Amino acid sequence: DLITKFQSIPTPFYYYDLGLLEENLKMLQTYSAQHGYKIHYALKANANDRILRLIRQYGFGADCVSGNEVKKALEMGFPPQEIAFAGVGKTNWEIELALQADIFAFNVESIQELTVIDGIAAQLGRTARVALRINPDVEANTHHYITTGKEENKFGIHISHLEEALEELAGLSHLEFMGLHFHIGSQIIDLEVFKNLALRVNDIQAELVKKGFTPQHLNLGGGLGIDYQNPDKHPIPDFQHYFSTIQQYLKPLPGQTIHFELGRSVVGQSGALITRVLYVKKGVKTRFAVVDAGMTELIRPALYHAVHKIENLTGNGSPQIYDVVGPICESSDFFGKGVELPEVRRGDLLAIRSTGAYAEVMASNYNLREKAKAIYSDELLNA
Ligand code: LLP
Repeated sequence: DLITKFQSIPTPFYYYDLGLLEENLKMLQTYSAQHGYKIHYALKANANDRILRLIRQYGFGADCVSGNEVKKALEMGFPPQEIAFAGVGKTNWEIELALQADIFAFNVESIQELTVIDGIAAQLGRTARVALRINPDVEANTHHYITTGKEENKFGIHISHLEEALEELAGLSHLEFMGLHFHIGSQIIDLEVFKNLALRVNDIQAELVKKGFTPQHLNLGGGLGIDYQNPDKHPIPDFQHYFSTIQQYLKPLPGQTIHFELGRSVVGQSGALITRVLYVKKGVKTRFAVVDAGMTELIRPALYHAVHKIENLTGNGSPQIYDVVGPICESSDFFGKGVELPEVRRGDLLAIRSTGAYAEVMASNYNLREKAKAIYSDELLNA
């Protein structure tokens, strides 16, 4: 079985269940198509070639936040007309690359960026399609490090500056105003937040229409969360309810297209980080299970106090409480504290679940560690 196959693979490694990913993609396709919504997969969540190719096979577009992500999306077969490019700090070469490729739209995050893109477009003899990223000041009810739509966040153009941005835009001849973009945060579980976003977008759009601007598209960003506590109970996010909430409250203009940029909800549950126990040691108030993966492979617990479900794949003794920690020389290098696991022994394999998103892409080689490999479920079929 799978665990026996895992035994012969050097640890730590990222395991990707492509079957589950496909199930997820089918659901996403079904429920987005019901409302005619266009999905751009956010490459930042996981940019592995095999995963990107599979996502593209289901007809989704791409959401990129760097020049290299734009390049990668093009290489993996995402058509330029389906690539959006966001980010508060686009450099000149990145803007040039996206203009040369003639991507769908730049999501512009500041007034100065408008003038810079216009200038580069003029030099290249091109017109840049732009959407304005608006900071709508909507509470996302998630960790503050992954909240992006509040006025204190660096992202987007605050609504109080929208009018100024539109005036600026109107005077720039190498820009074409396409739409409005919003992204208020990530790992949002409470669908009420998306209802609030939709209502806010309606108000903002009504203001714009009064001023004579008609966006061709609305981009509501990403942010739909996944169930980190119970990955087996909820392997696939509730896309149906998410899209129907938007559909129920959002009032698009006639002919307007609605876009989304989902990352975590597309790939999150399809991955697990597999690690081996190196040592079990007694602490004063706790027991440590020291494993061979660390914050270099998964930084989310250290950075956001994120909780990932941990399983002992090879032990079935009586349950004990452990702090599961990595080998990196940092106290923040832990995967879980006070975790109950069947008794852990040196050599046991642990699975840290729900690492399909924001794990491998955030890896570092701190302590000069090697990059952990990715193993795909279909490689183990005949192994
Ligand atoms: N669009 C924009 C403009 C974004 O900034 C993001 C994520 C997304 C879309 C995709 O959001 P998603 O659907 O994945 O929530 N490293 C953090 C998450 C950072 C999210 C950054 N922006 C974590 O591990 O929780």
